[in-house]
Amino acid sequence: MKFTKASPLKGEITIPGDKSISHRSVMFGSIAKGTTEISHFLQGADCLSTISCFKKMGIQIENNHDTVIVHGNGLRGLKKPETILDCGNSGTTTRLISGLLAAQDFNVTLTGDESIQKRPMKRIMEPLSLMGADIKSVKENGCAPLSISGKKLHGIHYTSPVASAQIKSCILLAGLYAEGETKVTEPYVSRNHSEIMLNYFGANVKTEGTTACIAPAEELYGNKIVVPGDISSAAYFIAAGLMIPGSEILIKHVGINPTRDGIIHVCRNMGADITLLEVNTDSGEPTADILVKSGSLHGITIGGAIIPTLIDELPMIAAMACLAEGETIIRDAAELKVKESNRIEVMVRNLSAMGADVEETEDGMIIRGGKPLRGAVIDSKLDHRIAMTFAVAGLCAEGETEILGAECVNISYPGFYQDLERLMK
Ligand code: S3P
Repeated sequence: MKFTKASPLKGEITIPGDKSISHRSVMFGSIAKGTTEISHFLQGADCLSTISCFKKMGIQIENNHDTVIVHGNGLRGLKKPETILDCGNSGTTTRLISGLLAAQDFNVTLTGDESIQKRPMKRIMEPLSLMGADIKSVKENGCAPLSISGKKLHGIHYTSPVASAQIKSCILLAGLYAEGETKVTEPYVSRNHSEIMLNYFGANVKTEGTTACIAPAEELYGNKIVVPGDISSAAYFIAAGLMIPGSEILIKHVGINPTRDGIIHVCRNMGADITLLEVNTDSGEPTADILVKSGSLHGITIGGAIIPTLIDELPMIAAMACLAEGETIIRDAAELKVKESNRIEVMVRNLSAMGADVEETEDGMIIRGGKPLRGAVIDSKLDHRIAMTFAVAGLCAEGETEILGAECVNISYPGFYQDLERLMK
């Protein structure tokens, strides 16, 4: 797929549903009693992997495109799947499902694509084992395939070395079935969609500072869910709107949960003109329309507690920093190395190819901005967020940018290129 310098982007856009919330609505709906009707569900490949795993465990799920109806079987209603569970490219599916499977009365093997088989799973194997789980890496390399043999679990207080909602949610889900309370403390608060939705379904999750605590549940109860637009997908339109001179975009109905809204704070700190309109709450999650107008940006330092609230947006922020005046430092973001690709390495290589002044550091990067970008051939490494970042960067560069493996945007945003093109007309 090829991109050249764009004329101003104008108009309104509704972003597909939040990936994290879509996954959780199917998972929690499956283990709840009764029906969960999910509207604005994200039909990305990752969320379809979650649906397929739960169907294999005997859950009836009707996918009517925008609406998904899950006929939950209750907390103890999952059935042993007849085949291996395939989590595709999805870390959220792999790690959250593992927490549930650790407590069932059957054994199961789960795996995923080449990228998933390289991603660290020790981070969930360790706490689950402390709870009494039997979970093994089949190749003994700390990665998937994982073989899990369901056991009776007991609650723990786990202090996680990294702020990760996937680790936290995995442990909380196991905690639903454990004897006694289960607590997770993280260095910084990670996204709290599990805590919000579990409580919405009748569980008892309490949060104090960076600690989440769950009590074992008798049953969860299905409920209606309206999935907000994904702020991580909105980020590409926020960035395009800010960077392409003369642009003005209204991004409708986006989730602005404070554990996810770091991109808005960072853009404003860089001097961006962003207004939140129609602020509301859906199924416990705050939403807003985001109005973005182009303007000049300046570099800043990004690190510490804000990092988990914008972790998936850092590739786009790094590209934006190349066009901002002055220096941007991204630190405390070593987690980027273990995402769908090593996003520090891949960003530095590709931004450098476009003529940017970027330096890789141990836990982030240093970007000396203010130099124009030029078109280049970009290897997305089949990482959806890299492909979308460079599509936007390509619209701001002189000459032609070609993205290899561009179709990988299907993971989180199947209509991305069409939506981008629509705003160019
Ligand atoms: C997610 C948590 C984050 C994020 C991922 C989705 C989730 O991962 O990067 O895209 O849905 O819980 P980590 O928990 O590894 O930080």
